[in-house]
Amino acid sequence: MAEPLTILGIETSCDETAAAVVRWRGSDVPGEILSNAIFSQIEDHAPFGGVVPEIAARAHVEHLDGLIARALKDAELGWDDLDGIAATAGPGLIGGVIVGLMTAKGIAAARGLPFIALNHLEGHALTVRMTEALPFPYLLLLVSGGHSQLLVVEGVGRYRRLGTTVDDAVGEAFDKVAKLLGLGYPGGPAVERAARDGDPSRFPLPRPMRGRPGYDFSFSGLKTAVRQVAESLDFLTDRDRADIAASFQCAAADVLSDRAENAMALASETIPPGHRRLVVAGGVAANMLLRERLMVSAHACGYEFVVPPLNLCTDNGAMIAWAGAERLALGLTDPIDAGPRARWPLDPDAAPARGAGVKA
Ligand code: KG4
Ligand code: ZN
Repeated sequence: MAEPLTILGIETSCDETAAAVVRWRGSDVPGEILSNAIFSQIEDHAPFGGVVPEIAARAHVEHLDGLIARALKDAELGWDDLDGIAATAGPGLIGGVIVGLMTAKGIAAARGLPFIALNHLEGHALTVRMTEALPFPYLLLLVSGGHSQLLVVEGVGRYRRLGTTVDDAVGEAFDKVAKLLGLGYPGGPAVERAARDGDPSRFPLPRPMRGRPGYDFSFSGLKTAVRQVAESLDFLTDRDRADIAASFQCAAADVLSDRAENAMALASETIPPGHRRLVVAGGVAANMLLRERLMVSAHACGYEFVVPPLNLCTDNGAMIAWAGAERLALGLTDPIDAGPRARWPLDPDAAPARGAGVKA
């Protein structure tokens, strides 16, 4: 059995300040989350209806040291018990990324610890290995505030992108719809809550890309259609809001499951039968309707469906610590001068997405 590794992970790429300690005991056994401290900046950003990068960076500075101390305390460990330190180095809001990265570098230098500058998306991608030791390869639908991608996860650091969004990320669409309907921030959970009492068939919204070959996504037309529906009603009642939220959520889930079905059909040619697993990760994976729809799609395609628990779908420190441990176990550490990266694709060889407002 491998020597256990105990890693501190730091996450500051968006609006959650997080620090966690995770123990790795081998690549074929689940990890042990010893602590998972998180501070959500929701109250700081709520008055602005979205994340304000400058406020986020300042809040990370204010809270990170305390969270790291708490993560160690909750884990009942001291600095000497750590084998390495990992921090998100991108992609994300650069001011916040710098706060976490520089803090991790300071600790690594002071304590003489191995340092891992981690891709935040890799944290999401490998979470299911921490929770259930899922073997490679698997198919991944990564859906967050900044990304909507389908990838084959072949190994640590080895990702083959099948498709991505040609405009907005799906989480971004949830956030914008929430803002439009006056549901507040953060948008995803607010839309899901409002949709609970809504009629998903009242407004016939478009399903961009559905039924077309390929694995790319598009969400900006759907978002525009939601705006047009909202503007066509003189006054939005709670019923209208619930029906629009439900109609939007259903359309988004339809598109995501359609594209995932295409990817499962393609991946079946390369993924051996015992490895046919569809994983969904990232903040939008916390959406219950999406989880249900993807499970149905996966089973229809002969795939097992795997999803992390809700608190490990949205940003957290444990996923960074775990991915850092997976890298450290393979000797993949980074030099102390590794820089922050606002953009950092998981598959650098993927053909650029083509579309009107490509961001990913
Ligand atoms: O992974 P994440 O926490 O941060 C990024 O890396 O972006 O994802 C945040 C995104 C936001 O757009 C948020 O609205 C969305 O995930 N989200 C949801 C839900 N919870 C969070 N979207 C739909 N339904 C949810 N329950
Ligand atoms: Zn994320």
